[in-house]
Amino acid sequence: MAVRWISLLLLCLFRLESSYQDQCVLYWTTLTCDGSKLNLTTFPSLDLCEEYRTLSIINTNLTDLQSGKIVLPQCSRLVSLDLSFNGIRILNTSIVRSNPAIEMLKLVGNKLRSVPKDILAGTLFLEYIDLSRNLIETIEEFSFHQNKYLQYLNVKDNRIYTIYGNAFSGLESLHYLHLSNNFITEFPFRDSGYNFSHLREMSLRNNNISRLSTSTDRYVCESIDLAQNLLQSVDDFALVGFPDTSLRLAHNFISRLETFIFGKSPHNLTALGLPFNLLTEIPTSLLRQLPKLVNLNLGNNRLTRIPKEAFTSNRYLMTITLRNNYIHEVHPMALVGLHRLTALNLRNNKLTTLPAELFDPSVQFLIQLFGNNWTCDCEVYPILEWLQKSQYFVDDIKCGTTLHENTSFLLEFPFEEICSGIEEEHVVTTLTTGLLTTDVIDTEAQFDETDIPNGRQEGVQLTPFMLPLLLLFISSM
Ligand SMILES: *[C@@H]1O[C@H](CO)[C@@H](O)[C@H](O)[C@H]1NC(C)=O
Ligand SMILES: *[C@@H]1O[C@H](CO)[C@@H](O)[C@H](O)[C@H]1NC(C)=O
Ligand SMILES: *[C@@H]1O[C@H](CO)[C@@H](O)[C@H](O)[C@H]1NC(C)=O
Ligand SMILES: *[C@@H]1O[C@H](CO)[C@@H](O)[C@H](O)[C@H]1NC(C)=O
Ligand SMILES: *[C@@H]1O[C@H](CO)[C@@H](O)[C@H](O)[C@H]1NC(C)=O
Ligand SMILES: *[C@@H]1O[C@H](CO)[C@@H](O)[C@H](O)[C@H]1NC(C)=O
Ligand SMILES: *[C@@H]1O[C@H](CO)[C@@H](O)[C@H](O)[C@H]1NC(C)=O
Ligand SMILES: *[C@@H]1O[C@H](CO)[C@@H](O)[C@H](O)[C@H]1NC(C)=O
Repeated sequence: MAVRWISLLLLCLFRLESSYQDQCVLYWTTLTCDGSKLNLTTFPSLDLCEEYRTLSIINTNLTDLQSGKIVLPQCSRLVSLDLSFNGIRILNTSIVRSNPAIEMLKLVGNKLRSVPKDILAGTLFLEYIDLSRNLIETIEEFSFHQNKYLQYLNVKDNRIYTIYGNAFSGLESLHYLHLSNNFITEFPFRDSGYNFSHLREMSLRNNNISRLSTSTDRYVCESIDLAQNLLQSVDDFALVGFPDTSLRLAHNFISRLETFIFGKSPHNLTALGLPFNLLTEIPTSLLRQLPKLVNLNLGNNRLTRIPKEAFTSNRYLMTITLRNNYIHEVHPMALVGLHRLTALNLRNNKLTTLPAELFDPSVQFLIQLFGNNWTCDCEVYPILEWLQKSQYFVDDIKCGTTLHENTSFLLEFPFEEICSGIEEEHVVTTLTTGLLTTDVIDTEAQFDETDIPNGRQEGVQLTPFMLPLLLLFISSM
């Protein structure tokens, strides 16, 4: 008997489930029709759409929608429309004509070849538009001319090679502009007179921009990402006005950075990422123009030395990454002025030693020295002493050359046996290692090396504020 009841119940549940699958799902004021979960053969009827605020019709393969035959009825409360992943080639210019109050429009993963200008001209209250993963090739002039409330504009992962002048005019409220993964060859904001006064983030990552030339524009922008382009140099006055906080230039071909790329007066940039370029010298004169700098990444370049007072104007610098270069010479006064340094990454260089004067006994920071060609001899003792005092974790420093044949790591070097004038009690026995693996810190210091498509992503990115906290936390344990 019980078995029969249970099977009946199961049958009912199954029925419920299957009928549920045949329909779009209404939850509160959101109607979702997900073609990956239900069999949608025609565009859903939207008879009762008066109550919908959000309409999401996604993952379908409806010929009528794809060829521009569909027009939405008037849904008086509708503010958000998602038509992503439907293979749409043509949008009917009247598709949202009855719903001019739409604020959010998602058209991700369709087959659009151009920005739907006509539709944008009719949606005056639009704040958010996502056109990523389409087949857009150009952005024509005045594409967003009526969209003065637009805050978020995403056209990444398209095939854009040309952005015409005035393409972005009219956008007065823009906060985020994503143009990455396209084929753009020119910096699209030259002498355009755009009214970008709220811009927070702009990404032009992975395009084909080869030049940043002198400009008279004055923009405000917190962060700009120009990584993975074809830049060889950055001219004076190329970036006057912006960006304010972070500039990412990783994976370009930059061998030269002019002094006044941000203009003649000092600039407030806090993070500069230049890894994977062709720099042969630390751009010291540019650094003098950046008194607020906190993070600097010059890893994977062709640097050979750190000159005298290289960072003397950068008293707020906390992390410096110089790993994977050819540095063999460090001036005894190279780090003068760096009172807030927390991490200096010198991994994989050609160092055989470091001048003892480099280390200010009153300043402690993490130094990473793995992968150098260290000479283990008595002269290194002062450095070892500093490392011990600094309490921070250090790499095992392997000896490239050693005075003592049985020693392959600096920490094992028997200073007290070999070197005169060293009392045994001072000798390092154990240096704390472990807990915080140096790789964790690396991810912070590697500012700007994440997000690279070839899978070199290396975990969470710590913000500049988290690192000292983390170090504090660990040193207090
Ligand atoms: C969709 O319908 C087809 C035939 O009309 C059927 O073979 C298929 O199983 C259905 N898929 C789902 C998920 O219901
Ligand atoms: C979409 O439908 C067309 C026929 O209308 C069919 O040829 C195509 O394979 C379908 N695509 C997908 C991804 O189901
Ligand atoms: C747009 O939709 C309307 C109404 O369905 C239709 O009459 C018109 O032909 C459509 N336009 C295009 C270009 O398909
Ligand atoms: C720029 O946009 C702001 C609103 O964000 C507006 O107040 C200002 O007048 C605009 N300036 C110009 C030159 O259009
Ligand atoms: C962009 O640059 C890449 C790499 O140099 C090149 O292979 C490609 O042909 C360029 N594409 C265009 C559209 O210029
Ligand atoms: C830098 O910041 C200061 C305030 O901290 C401000 O007065 C100055 O105008 C800023 N400089 C630039 C170039 O934005
Ligand atoms: C390491 O340094 C020594 C000199 O101190 C030099 O003879 C040797 O070639 C260097 N090895 C490497 C791999 O650079
Ligand atoms: C190195 O080790 C070998 C064997 O362990 C020993 O015979 C030799 O004396 C050691 N050399 C030095 C310099 O300590």
